[in-house]
Amino acid sequence: MTSLAGKRIVLGVSGGIAAYKAVEICRRLMDEGAHVIPVLTKGATRFVGRTTFDALASERVQMSLFDEDDPIPHTTLGQTADCVLVAPATARVIGAYAAGISSDLLTATLIATRAPVVVCPAMHTEMWEHPAVAHNIATLAERGVHIVGPESGRLAGGDEGAGRLSSPADVVAAVSRVLDVGEKRSDMAGLSVVVTAGGTREPIDPVRYIGNHSSGKQGYAFAEEAAGRGASVTIVTTVDRPGPLGATVASGVTVVRVDTAEEMAAATADAAKDADVVIMAAAVADFRPVDPAGVKLKKRDGVPAIELEPTPDILASLGASKPEGQILIGFAAETCDVADNAAAKLNGKGADYIVANDVTAESAGFAHDTNEVLVLASDGRAHSVGLRSKRQVAQAVLDLVVADRDGRADVR
Ligand code: CTP
Repeated sequence: MTSLAGKRIVLGVSGGIAAYKAVEICRRLMDEGAHVIPVLTKGATRFVGRTTFDALASERVQMSLFDEDDPIPHTTLGQTADCVLVAPATARVIGAYAAGISSDLLTATLIATRAPVVVCPAMHTEMWEHPAVAHNIATLAERGVHIVGPESGRLAGGDEGAGRLSSPADVVAAVSRVLDVGEKRSDMAGLSVVVTAGGTREPIDPVRYIGNHSSGKQGYAFAEEAAGRGASVTIVTTVDRPGPLGATVASGVTVVRVDTAEEMAAATADAAKDADVVIMAAAVADFRPVDPAGVKLKKRDGVPAIELEPTPDILASLGASKPEGQILIGFAAETCDVADNAAAKLNGKGADYIVANDVTAESAGFAHDTNEVLVLASDGRAHSVGLRSKRQVAQAVLDLVVADRDGRADVR
């Protein structure tokens, strides 16, 4: 297969132990027909020799801003690349890229390019979890950089934890996806999926409502990921698609607009009747004014006493009437005791999965482009998905769903 035929890929390799795996990534990119230009940092050459890449890649290794034949190698590389891939990406390179600092040919190329960039972090768990690194990754993800991995597993020195470079196969597959040349995933073809998104609005009077901070980004990410994988999707939402594309929703997604919990409950129950997968990503208000005023409440009349009543619990009623074989996914927006609260919601609402997040965490939850979640399954499995774009979170959760439907209990 030569799915990357004709694609010019700058393969940036920075100085971590995982640099040896970049050799395999280089070979796989070449096998896929890509034109690979290796750019190594000085640190990378401590772990792997440039001769190795010279022998395997399409062009010789470049390392310096000044010693190459080309007087402006970073602009040439950045402008002519179809994709810049950094694997492994160390905390230093990630930090420099996020801060816009060009300290060597690789970071200069990253800043000079307008091509899609794929960053594959690899480092020790303590470094990966450092707030500075997490912040830099979130910054890059918010700018549209594709973050792949890291995986959890055995690390250099025998430690276990998050920080392992994604496998060469996954890295090359990610590049193909980013360049839209890989085999399209169609593992949800024929499935009907219902997603809810946004925060409901419960009117107090014609101009005021009880609402919440939900942006709908995670819900739309689920809808578009499922549609991209072949599902036919209905999104029941209180908000337009957020982001630069405005209300332009991916094909394969039907939008049903609602405002209140009551409207969302009715529209979702209707759409969910024949659905294979239902994803309750909306932040549904728990209380609503019993008797919203018909005209605007006036200040001069004093502070209103607003009597509240509970809204319908949409997830719980879907859970109670779930058709055979349907997979029901709920969310848990928490501010503390995430795992315990999520487990209680899983049991209490009849869901097959709860996707829980700490909405107070930096760069995760409401309105961010990134998220970090804990997925609990009703059979007791738990799976954490580290900080990544909301689309990648959707991808990871749908991977579990697809594996479940295929009767496989393996968790990637
Ligand atoms: N949910 C729902 N209907 C409601 C409230 C919540 O369907 N009236 C769904 C949400 O869409 C989410 C899950 O239930 O999938 C959990 O929502 P969350 O707000 O985290 O929890 P609550 O059940 O509202 O409980 P609490 O606010 O006490 O944490």
